[in-house]
Amino acid sequence: MPFTIAIDGPAAAGKGTISKAVAAHYGFAHLDTGLLYRAVGARMLDGVEPIEAAQTLTSKDLEAPDLRSHEVAQAASKVAAIPEVREALVDFQRAFAQRQGGAVLDGRDIGTVICPEAEAKLYVTASAEVRAGRRYKELQGKGSELSFDAVLAEVKERDARDSERASAPMKPAADAVLIDTSELSIEDAVAAAIHAVDAKR
Ligand code: C5P
Repeated sequence: MPFTIAIDGPAAAGKGTISKAVAAHYGFAHLDTGLLYRAVGARMLDGVEPIEAAQTLTSKDLEAPDLRSHEVAQAASKVAAIPEVREALVDFQRAFAQRQGGAVLDGRDIGTVICPEAEAKLYVTASAEVRAGRRYKELQGKGSELSFDAVLAEVKERDARDSERASAPMKPAADAVLIDTSELSIEDAVAAAIHAVDAKR
């Protein structure tokens, strides 16, 4: 039986970690939909027209080495505002959600646009300062010299672009359970997510 868990929220709120843990807990497949937009963004940086890039995206594009970079994240949020780019990626995401064994999809518009009928919906968030702090630590670990303020500005810029766009803006579905991870450990955030999903099973 398909059972879809939609997990939305802004960058660095803990969505990815929670989604992986929830998928592992239930034995469901997991799709990080941000990767699709990142792959389109990366192709745009390589000179491919974004709509064309989205319409011809292959699984090989999802394996490009630099998809996690800052530049690609910003490019992703630019191409994600183009309605034709979003449209080109809908069928793949919906087909993934219908897998027999159950699926977890994480992104910005899963509970609102891609899978409005999802059995369980979560909206994972945290303050911009906490999210920037997590990104900053992660980047420092990779030897980056970006300042905390620069990371915070980028987080806020991407939030604004994602939530103010006309096409499928980032927002919680009316029936999503909100999880604010600002003051939660990873374990507690995962436990809260599993608790919310169990209530729908
Ligand atoms: O989640 P991640 O940071 O990898 O997403 C990169 C960008 O892709 C986001 O800033 C957003 O603009 C876009 N995105 C989206 N809809 C999704 C997932 C990601 O618009 N479902």
